[in-house]
Order: sequence, then structure tokens, then C-alpha cells
Amino acid sequence: MYVCLCEGVTDGQIREAIYEGCCSYRDIRASLGVASQCGKCACLAKHVVRETLSEVQASQGALAYPESFVAA
Ligand code: FES
Repeated sequence: MYVCLCEGVTDGQIREAIYEGCCSYRDIRASLGVASQCGKCACLAKHVVRETLSEVQASQGALAYPESFVAA
């Protein structure tokens, strides 16, 4: 789905940029150019960034505590 029509940026591109190392809305804006023209996409872009960062953090948390981990 297109998030930013002015720059032609999709939610998939935003997610991919986060998986490749971007870690904030500011990073995404700098690397993909979202919200750099009319700005109407800013709210949705922030939502996609927040959602994806939460997914990444959840998956990293899963790696930090494998199934065999038992809290003492
Ligand atoms: S829709 Fe993203 S800057 Fe216009």
C-alpha cells in the first residue's frame, strides 16, 4: 500500500528500511523522503514505523529468551 504518494513510498519499503537498520521515523524520513513534500502521509508513516519497530523488538525479545529459558 502506498503511504506517501508524493514520493511513491510504500509500507513495504518502510518496513524493509527498518529491517535494514533505520530505527526511527526521522531515519525513515531522511532515507525515503516520506512527508518531505505535502506532509499528509506523516501520521500513517509514523504508524507504520511504530508498528514495525514493535514487531522487531518483539522478535528480538523472543531471541533473547529461548523456549528453554526458565526464570528463577
Ligand atoms: S504524501 Fe507524503 S509528502 Fe505528500
